Amino acid sequence: MVTLAIGALTGMPIEQTAHGAQHGAGGMRFVRIGDAPAGDETPAAADIKQIVVDNFSFTPATAAVPVGTTVTWTNHDDIPHNVVSPEQKFKSPVLDTDEMFSHKFEAAGTYKYYCSIHPRMTGQVVVR
Ligand code: CU
Repeated sequence: MVTLAIGALTGMPIEQTAHGAQHGAGGMRFVRIGDAPAGDETPAAADIKQIVVDNFSFTPATAAVPVGTTVTWTNHDDIPHNVVSPEQKFKSPVLDTDEMFSHKFEAAGTYKYYCSIHPRMTGQVVVR
């Protein structure tokens, strides 16, 4: 998040920053520091929910999303983690630093998950 904002803060032309490239015709737009891309102007972004894995925790621990949302976990920790549904609805490989895993939730329900390497790391996705 912080690296994306550096260009704007140092006065570089916005079109040459990463988000300028992604949103081309959308005009100038600042990335909100610490905010998730969900709710951005493109329809695709609204269907993606980002969960950050860092400091031995999932953030947000409870992610509420509409049916059809693709949830993406990104490991920002220095430690490998994974994302495992105890009901075997989904299971990621072991994610090293900066690796990602995505799962699309097609049905309403509450999907608990945890890191099988560190089982005290838990979270849930609530699909409505
Ligand atoms: Cu872990």
